Amino acid sequence: MVLDHDLIPDLTPTLERLVERHLVTTKEWFPHELVPWERADASTASREWDETRAPVPDAVRSALFVNLLTEDNLPYYFQTIDAMFGAEGIWGEWSRRWTAEEGRHSIVIRDYLTVTGMVDPAALERARMHQVSHGVVPQPETPLDGLVYVALQELATRIAHRATGKLLDDRAGYDIMARVGADENLHHLLYRDLVSAAIERDPSTAMLAIERQVKGFEMPGTGIVDFEQHALAIAKAGIYDLKVHHEQILLPVVLRQWDVEGLEGLTPEAEDSRVRLITRIDRVGRAGRRLADRWAEASSGVPSSGDAVSARDLISA
Ligand SMILES: [Fe+2]
Ligand SMILES: [Fe+2]
Repeated sequence: MVLDHDLIPDLTPTLERLVERHLVTTKEWFPHELVPWERADASTASREWDETRAPVPDAVRSALFVNLLTEDNLPYYFQTIDAMFGAEGIWGEWSRRWTAEEGRHSIVIRDYLTVTGMVDPAALERARMHQVSHGVVPQPETPLDGLVYVALQELATRIAHRATGKLLDDRAGYDIMARVGADENLHHLLYRDLVSAAIERDPSTAMLAIERQVKGFEMPGTGIVDFEQHALAIAKAGIYDLKVHHEQILLPVVLRQWDVEGLEGLTPEAEDSRVRLITRIDRVGRAGRRLADRWAEASSGVPSSGDAVSARDLISA
């Protein structure tokens, strides 16, 4: 693959504009003001934990666990972004600002989980040690692939946080996940619009990168202990599954916002890539609806058709 050395300088004026928009739109907030400290008691500091302390459905516990560990893996996201886009000028300024905002997410979610006892704090800490010691994060093959990936990933994270908050049945938890989700949304909008500028600059190269990233997309959290088992629980609860991925990411972003069907002047290679991409998006939509129906039937007591579904099918579009 030929590396596009002009991509970063060409997109610099757009990023400058988008960072300015971000700073005007974003709101300052404080984790300590959202955490329900009054729920902490003697058991908060104990090594012993049992799930009756704060009963929540297993899928919600899985989602909280995965959401937080994803945020904890920040050093490696920063490392990848820093290497891809460089530390100079607005690119470095943005990645450092983004890192500071993301750090706030793990602070608030961890404090919330600690005082409420929703997740076993010792298991969580061991999983954090494992996750950060191994540092598994996606490594997009080009900077443009990286921009497409983060645009999709920030939106996936927003969706997962907000859906988790809704299922918590707890006002403080809902507010925290909504607050974090609002940040993820602004991150998504910045990267989404940066990709739009890249499409305008060179639609054929952008098409190939979008196809690669849609094909290889994995829900944030890959590398976490028992990730597939948690991802399956999260999908079955409808927090984040193929249907959500299709309806809330692929349709609104890839088809509508980036308008891959309407792009003109593509090279023959990019035309082929577009056909494959649209076929894939269609297929993901059909598979997502089928799976969601099957799980709804299973949870309402109607026997399901019984064919095995691997977690990989759910998270890998
Ligand atoms: Fe975050
Ligand atoms: Fe984010």
